[in-house]
Amino acid sequence: MKFKSLSIAAALILPLALSGNAMALDGSALFQSKTCWSCHGKDAKTPILPVYPKLAGQNAGYALQQMKDIKSGARANGQSAAMKGVMGLVSDEEMAAIADWLATQ
Ligand code: HEC
Repeated sequence: MKFKSLSIAAALILPLALSGNAMALDGSALFQSKTCWSCHGKDAKTPILPVYPKLAGQNAGYALQQMKDIKSGARANGQSAAMKGVMGLVSDEEMAAIADWLATQ
């Protein structure tokens, strides 16, 4: 009896713990905390300079690849150097969460 209620408790807590982990990667919150907004705008479509891109509504797969390429230096065209410094703060998982969020904007 005791064992049964324990395993029920575990079954209830485990998915909560897992979803809590996924929620820690909130693309919107990361976009703010990693300072992306300071160049791309709080709404991701009001860049501070006309030569900086709008990101809102971009395809997630494309946005993620551009972030990875700017981070690695594979993409070094145009104004990419401006962004490269900040990418050291962002993991692949965080980039993916941000890219998914951007696609919904
Ligand atoms: C210091 C300014 C700056 C910061 C901070 C910055 N970016 Fe950028 N970002 C740029 C610039 C400039 C470009 C365009 C580079 C070029 O000219 O090719 C760019 C390009 C991009 C692109 C590719 C857009 C496209 O259409 O190809 C994505 C996606 C992106 N940034 C996401 C982010 C995310 C996410 C963050 C935060 C982790 C971030 N940026 C932080 C300046 C910045």
